[in-house]
Order: sequence, then structure tokens, then C-alpha cells
Amino acid sequence: MSVLKAKHLTKVYGARHANAVTKALNGIDLDVENGEFVSIMGPSGSGKTTLLNILAGIDKPTSGELWIQGQDIAKMKASQLALFRRRHLGFVFQDYNLLDSLTAAENVALPLALDGKRGVAVRNKVLDTLKFLGMEANADKYPYEMSGGQQQRVAVARAVVHNPALILADEPTGNLDSASAKALLEIFQRLNQEHGSTILMVTHDPFAASYSRRVVFIKDGQVFSRLDAPRTREVFFQEILQTLAVLEGTRSDMAPARM
Ligand SMILES: Nc1ncnc2c1ncn2[C@@H]1O[C@H](COP(=O)(O)OP(=O)(O)O)[C@@H](O)[C@H]1O
Ligand SMILES: [Mg+2]
Repeated sequence: MSVLKAKHLTKVYGARHANAVTKALNGIDLDVENGEFVSIMGPSGSGKTTLLNILAGIDKPTSGELWIQGQDIAKMKASQLALFRRRHLGFVFQDYNLLDSLTAAENVALPLALDGKRGVAVRNKVLDTLKFLGMEANADKYPYEMSGGQQQRVAVARAVVHNPALILADEPTGNLDSASAKALLEIFQRLNQEHGSTILMVTHDPFAASYSRRVVFIKDGQVFSRLDAPRTREVFFQEILQTLAVLEGTRSDMAPARM
């Protein structure tokens, strides 16, 4: 089943000033099936954030079609869209976006509380989710009492506690040191493999992308190429590097240290 289907998405900025038009997206087709873990990669300015914002319903495409869970989200009213996003999507951002005045458990409970859910069942679901992420001991801590890696894991718990159809992550490892990044990517891998979570992650880091099962490379607002994961992550990592080298018009002959 298709969780996300986008057809020929375009986004033009500054359309009213004909001399300053930017075609941020120039006809993107994208299909994400239930249970997939897909990365979107591309150089700075290639349209990644624009694409993710449109897929998330934060921004509207100039043209093209977009269905999430079979629903045409471009046609929804604001209130309908807000409810749809809350129920069906989970978001992970580069800078965690936790609420400072709430504990970890209270942050994670937010999507359920906003949906009118209360009580012991919520508390149990929150603790189960924190436990899955190895964060149960931090349930009553405030964001300032936790490391960046811990805060990001709480943010992931918040993104998945309501079992969304699709998790959208924008550079989720961008602010993390390499050990915390690896721990977070292993969590994404486990969510995908053990929970069947569908994940779409924007990243410019080939190491992060190597944890996904498919990479869509974009350049100048268009799909440049697509790559499916081979048998091992290490081989995938090398293939991603090679594709990036072609995409950026350079060759990298040196094997990178980090695998
Ligand atoms: N709000 C905006 N107004 C005008 N141009 C924009 C806006 N947002 C992005 N752009 C332009 O659209 C292109 C794609 O940007 P973006 O989606 O942020 O790329 P990426 O996330 O891959 O770096 C860039 O040329 C950028 O300058
Ligand atoms: Mg960006």
C-alpha cells in the first residue's frame, strides 16, 4: 500500500516578480510504500526542505498532486489538515523542538493529549515508547537535564507514540555527535524493522542515509537518481558516496574512514 504518492510536484517561489523566480521543485515524482525507510539526499539548495515541507502539509505545491494515506492533502481545509497531520504524521526535526517547560514523558504525551486522550493508558503508552528508545529512566527529566542525543530520542518517542502512518525527519542527526547519531539511526532502523514504521528522512549525511533502504537523490528540484540498498549497509554507504560524487560532478577516489 502506498503511504505517500507525489506526482510532478513543482514549487515556484517569487512568481509575482517574474525577474526573480526560483523553481525550487521542478516535477518531483515520489512513492513511499508502507514499511519503507527512504532517504532524500541532495546538495544545498536542491529543494529538500521545500519538498519535505510540502509533504508535511506545511507548504503547498505550485502544481502537482500529493496523496498521503490515499487522501489529497492539498485539497484539505486548514482545520482538516491540522487534524490529519496530528493523527497520521510524526515529525523529527534537526533541533529536537521539545517544549522546555515539560518533562520527557509530558512531551511524549503531547500528541495523545492533543487528541483528547488522558489517564493511565496514556501514561503506559508513553512509558512503553520511552522504554523502546532506552529512555525510561529519563521520563521525568526536563530537556535541559538531558544531552542532545537523549533529547532527540525523546523527540522520536513523541513522533511515534500515536503510531503515525509516516514519520518525516529533517536532518535528524544534524546536531548530534557521531555516537549519538549512530544510536539514533539504529533506533530508526529498529522502528522500521521491528515496528514496521514508514520513515522518510532528509539528510545530507551519507552515513545516515546508509541506514535507510532506498535513497532518492535530488538536484535542481528534480529527481537525479534512485538507489536501493544492497545486502550490507557498508556497501550501500560506498554506493551512496559514489552517486553523490557523480551528482556533485566530482570523483572521490579516497575511501572514507567512517563506515
Ligand atoms: N521562501 C523562499 N523564497 C524564495 N526562495 C526560496 C525559499 N525557500 C527556498 N528557496 C529557494 O529554493 C531553492 C531550494 O531551497 P531548499 O528547499 O531550502 O533546498 P535545500 O533544503 O535542499 O537546501 C533554493 O534555490 C532556495 O534559495
Ligand atoms: Mg534544507
